[in-house]
Amino acid sequence: MAFLTFSSPFLFVQTFIVILLIICFWYYPEHQNHFTFFNFSSNTTADTTTTTTTTTTANTTSNLSHTNPQTHHHYSSANQNKRKSRLDKVEEDLARARASILKAVRYRNYTSDKVESFIPRGCAYRNAYAFHQSHIEMVKRFKIWAYKEGDRPLFHSGPMKHIYSIEGHFIDEMESGKSPFMAHHPDEAHAFFLPVSVANIVEYIYLPITSYDRDRLVRVVTDYVKIVGDKYPYWNRSSGADHFMLSCHDWAPEATHDDPHLFKNFIRVLCNANTSEGFKPLRDVSLPELNLSPYWELSKPSFAQPPDNRTVLAFFAGGAHGYIRQILFDHWKEKDDEIQVYKDLPKDLNYDKMMGQSKFCLCPSGYEVASPRVVESIQAGCVPVIISDHYALPFSDVLDWSKFSLHIPSNRIPEIKKILISVPYSRYLKMQERVTKVRRHFQLNRPAKPFDVFHMVLHSVWLRRLNIGILH
Ligand SMILES: *[C@@H]1O[C@H](CO)[C@@H](O)[C@H](O)[C@H]1NC(C)=O
Ligand SMILES: *[C@@H]1O[C@H](CO)[C@@H](O)[C@H](O)[C@H]1NC(C)=O
Ligand SMILES: *[C@@H]1O[C@H](CO)[C@@H](O)[C@H](O)[C@H]1NC(C)=O
Ligand SMILES: *[C@@H]1O[C@H](CO)[C@@H](O)[C@H](O)[C@H]1NC(C)=O
Ligand SMILES: *[C@@H]1O[C@H](CO)[C@@H](O)[C@H](O)[C@H]1NC(C)=O
Ligand SMILES: *[C@@H]1O[C@H](CO)[C@@H](O)[C@H](O)[C@H]1NC(C)=O
Ligand SMILES: *[C@@H]1O[C@H](CO)[C@@H](O)[C@H](O)[C@H]1NC(C)=O
Ligand SMILES: *[C@@H]1O[C@H](CO)[C@@H](O)[C@H](O)[C@H]1NC(C)=O
Repeated sequence: MAFLTFSSPFLFVQTFIVILLIICFWYYPEHQNHFTFFNFSSNTTADTTTTTTTTTTANTTSNLSHTNPQTHHHYSSANQNKRKSRLDKVEEDLARARASILKAVRYRNYTSDKVESFIPRGCAYRNAYAFHQSHIEMVKRFKIWAYKEGDRPLFHSGPMKHIYSIEGHFIDEMESGKSPFMAHHPDEAHAFFLPVSVANIVEYIYLPITSYDRDRLVRVVTDYVKIVGDKYPYWNRSSGADHFMLSCHDWAPEATHDDPHLFKNFIRVLCNANTSEGFKPLRDVSLPELNLSPYWELSKPSFAQPPDNRTVLAFFAGGAHGYIRQILFDHWKEKDDEIQVYKDLPKDLNYDKMMGQSKFCLCPSGYEVASPRVVESIQAGCVPVIISDHYALPFSDVLDWSKFSLHIPSNRIPEIKKILISVPYSRYLKMQERVTKVRRHFQLNRPAKPFDVFHMVLHSVWLRRLNIGILH
């Protein structure tokens, strides 16, 4: 099946053309300050390549930045000149990264100063060569400035346990002083991180909850942006397009809702990646949800069985959160031996073991689209069955989820069994093998390691940064 080979010349030629057009395009000075389109999934024919370019043109003619260097009253003109030349350097660095990625796609190989510990290959990647080189370039070059303003606990710290834990761990990883991605000076940064924790804002300002009114949340985040935007030239320079925040809390998307103009280009890294609630896959980043137990240890024992030992067709256990799970329970709760769906797991069954001996693990959305089960399922070597509507899956720029997971929209929940039974065993085996291959991309390490979940999150931001150029 040609479909399964990553080396399809079709994909290679198309991607090359698209990237080439984009890169040529890049050097048109009048287009510099705007979004272009640089993603790894471009599977376009010659015709649609034109379409893509047209889109690019359309977007580059829309206004991204309202640059007005004269208003940077906090800085002397000597400083400004220094800053301009540093920005040139940052942009040149990005141009070199783009060129290397292009070369890697063209020659279907990579170049690196180091011995590469892992070489992504296979059809689970949209374009393994582009991704690999892009990751190499990121590790080599990417520098982030985390703003120092603000006090704990609302800023510079976040939850380290339970379902929002990725928020706290990311902030901690960035600010621990050990991350090689941190810039020493904001002038050398490619991107700017706002270390605000929505989960902590909710915990410290709202709990115990007497009001679900998001006003206070909006105010904290907006004030922060205004403070750093007043104090430094970086936000205004790009209209926030090289700035990002990260949150796993359900409310996080609403933090930026009240001022669509201010936050138009701001990159939001969110677990709650609901495209029908304003999540924009080209601008925002979908963040995987990880449920870290209070006894979290780096090496958890694995109950993952080999495929032949997976005797349960499909498994789910969890609370009746949200409408999708309600439909799931209505149809499947304790009704079928092969589709084992529980609200309360019977005492004689072990959750982790069940995942390790199931072929498919059901990952229905809860109150919000994301579910920690997606990552749990991948860790357990169980093929995820994502039951969701409007969910933008994590790392979709790079990973082709259709090669290692199934997606079932809520209106097909009654057909789950039919759908799963109809997957040929040979296809199942391939998907299961790819699940084990992408596992490293969902692994949380402290400190972060190449290709793990933090590197993937950073890579998502890096990719968005590659898509814009900033003028001074
Ligand atoms: C990447 O590009 C394709 C079109 O070539 C588009 O359909 C897809 O949504 C894009 N992916 C992301 C994550 O932007
Ligand atoms: C690319 O698109 C073509 C036709 O649109 C399709 O047949 C092919 O399977 C696609 N390849 C990938 C890797 O998605
Ligand atoms: C270009 O901009 C338009 C309007 O702002 C938007 O709808 C579209 O998704 C953008 N396309 C890309 C590739 O960014
Ligand atoms: C861009 O901004 C200029 C001046 O601020 C305005 O005249 C023009 O209409 C804007 N163009 C778009 C496409 O928004
Ligand atoms: C790919 O690049 C690596 C490192 O640059 C090199 O060792 C290897 O031989 C190359 N492989 C091919 C097939 O060219
Ligand atoms: C950035 O723009 C805002 C709104 O126009 C302005 O109030 C602020 O002073 C600007 N920041 C700098 C550093 O000039
Ligand atoms: C697979 O199941 C058999 C029978 O239950 C068991 O003996 C074997 O150890 C299992 N294999 C692995 C790798 O766990
Ligand atoms: C996603 O957004 C839509 C539109 O607001 C909403 O109806 C739906 O419930 C959301 N999905 C989840 C799982 O919350």
